[in-house]
Amino acid sequence: MSVKTELIRLFTEKKGEYLSGEELAERLSCTRAAVWKAVEQLRKEGYEIAAAQNRGYMLSENNDLLSAEELGSYLGSGKQLRVYPEISSTNDVLKGFAVSEGAPAGTTILSDLQTGGKGRLGRRFFSPKGCGLYMSMLLRPEGSVTDNLILTAQSAVAVYRAVKRVCGIELGIKWVNDLYLDGRKVCGILSEGQANFETGKLDFVIVGIGLNVYEPEEGYPEELQEKAGSLLGKRSAGARVNRNLLAAELIREFYRLSQEQGLAKEYSEKNIVPGHRVRILDRGTVREADALRILPDGRLEVMETDGTKQALVYGEVSVRRGFLLDSSWI
Ligand code: BTN
Repeated sequence: MSVKTELIRLFTEKKGEYLSGEELAERLSCTRAAVWKAVEQLRKEGYEIAAAQNRGYMLSENNDLLSAEELGSYLGSGKQLRVYPEISSTNDVLKGFAVSEGAPAGTTILSDLQTGGKGRLGRRFFSPKGCGLYMSMLLRPEGSVTDNLILTAQSAVAVYRAVKRVCGIELGIKWVNDLYLDGRKVCGILSEGQANFETGKLDFVIVGIGLNVYEPEEGYPEELQEKAGSLLGKRSAGARVNRNLLAAELIREFYRLSQEQGLAKEYSEKNIVPGHRVRILDRGTVREADALRILPDGRLEVMETDGTKQALVYGEVSVRRGFLLDSSWI
């Protein structure tokens, strides 16, 4: 490990505490000049590191830089992690690695900002700097597309669990794979795969997660103002979370759930759709139905207006909240 990587690990362990140059040099088996050089490099990368005479260096508790080193220190070894300050779309870049480099299952990339974040149905996903977790994870699963539909639902549960554990916040899951807080969408998931027509199997699946941790100081763009939310609101309001820790928990939970056969129970227990009137957007048409329940394989059972029951596999639903004049759709 380089002096820089080791330094991040030590600073992260002792966030908010001073470590003397002498102690650091001894622990890293290098000179004090090498420690100083690595500190300067880290500052250039955006780490907030304080220096005080006779006390040494300290990583500020406010430091909130996404870094592969810090993330790796929470996750342990075994995952291929790449963290970027800026990227077009983590899904697209990871797809490139999967195809051109044959990247292995478990490869995970994150970016602090996406210039071309993609949502479902050809939409854009607003991904401003320093405000969220924009990440993609690679799987090379056995089986066909239909065998793997459950993966998307499991990813929503991974987000639900990580956010609950790290932030103490309970999100609602909206079928098929959005997460909501107080009636606003705080997380969207885009799963993409490449099918192999010769084998009938999947070459790979990429699960992309976009989680709004903070609202940008300037607020959301107009078209999102009524819909988008965040876990903690504006950073200036004071609430904070360590995004590396949250990402680590999410990654760990995601890969764990992706190995499980059955759908995690929270997917139906925390789903906000059953019991509501829904609008179903299906291949360009919109119809209304009553959402009944989540089936054990993640499909949504609805009662159509003619009284027949259907199990929806994918699609978009809007849920009606409130009644009559008060009602709105989320
Ligand atoms: C949706 O809500 O429609 C899905 C949004 C998925 C956004 C994430 S952010 C990380 C990954 N990279 C992308 O370009 N999209 C997904």
